[in-house]
Amino acid sequence: MNVGDRHYRTIWLSDDKRSVEIIDQRWLPHDFRVERIGTVAGIATAIRDMWVRGAPLIGVTAAYGVAMRMADDPSNAALDAVWETLHETRPTAINLRWALDEMRRFLKPLPPEQRAAAAYRRAGEIADEDVGLNRAIGANGLEIIRAIAARKQKSEPVNILTHCNAGWLATVDYGTATAPIYLATEARIPVHVYVDETRPRNQGAQLTAWEMAGHGVPHTLIVDNAGGHLMQRGEIDMVIVGTDRTTADGDVCNKIGTYLKALAAADNDVPFYVALPSPTIDWTVGNGLGEIPIEQRSPDEVSLVWGKTADGKIAQVRVSPEATPAANPAFDVTPARLVTGLITERGVAKASREGLKAMFPERG
Ligand code: MRU
Repeated sequence: MNVGDRHYRTIWLSDDKRSVEIIDQRWLPHDFRVERIGTVAGIATAIRDMWVRGAPLIGVTAAYGVAMRMADDPSNAALDAVWETLHETRPTAINLRWALDEMRRFLKPLPPEQRAAAAYRRAGEIADEDVGLNRAIGANGLEIIRAIAARKQKSEPVNILTHCNAGWLATVDYGTATAPIYLATEARIPVHVYVDETRPRNQGAQLTAWEMAGHGVPHTLIVDNAGGHLMQRGEIDMVIVGTDRTTADGDVCNKIGTYLKALAAADNDVPFYVALPSPTIDWTVGNGLGEIPIEQRSPDEVSLVWGKTADGKIAQVRVSPEATPAANPAFDVTPARLVTGLITERGVAKASREGLKAMFPERG
């Protein structure tokens, strides 16, 4: 998507054809910084410390990390070791494991001397594929927005609630939950997005709001607890969120707080959609509760908040007493029964084993 008048993806190969450049998301919305990363250690840090984040982007970044390792040492031992190193950076998003598995599956049969070039090529393809998947998700989600718009007065916007950032910053381009929103905007369907701030790291306030503002999408930032109240008042037409891992039974693991939005949506008959590319489906897990590792991040993310001070410094401030302990589970699981539909690249699936099997029969 564009930043100013320049088109950016969130990650791209540098001119040296060995390192990558990424948008360093830690500083947004205050500062737009691009970082070059050329080592596996650098890639691991960028994923773990969330310079890049969002399930699909984590996967693509890891794929480039594998390519960097292959350029130094294309042995089987190095391939297995880099899989392990990168896999442990963030435990919940399945796209990370998907991309690492895909790179290993593709590279293992090749002679070592061919692996580095092939790895960079395959990582680039995975990045391109992500863009295509998101465009297709956008087209499928657009039809849902169009149908809701058709039931409203012409000038009234479709009010959409979203949580966290499943935008272009969370993918290579377009985003998952935001792709239908961007396409609706292009199609001149009036939309208005309620952006959950998404404590503790504020990906909604910092990233989704920045995306919406940058692309001229009317939006309003709300605190995480406001969604239920707005739904009770009929001010939200639909919810669209992303996911870090959706199980074969259609349970949806996503940013902490998603479950509460789904409960409120069910109680108020507000359709609750989840947008996802197929690499986000974990076909090995049925019941999401208990079977998905939930990332526990630093309590400091709860006790300290990043912001920009009046004199222009990007800094952290403490919001709780020094002595108060904090807990920081980063994701929760929304049971399939609370999900209206899964917006995939192939169409909108029912959130159930049968629904997903019908959409992806080759997996059944
Ligand atoms: O911890 P984050 O910022 O990586 O969490 C991101 C989310 O929860 C997104 O909703 C999810 O990865 C889907 S991104 C298309």
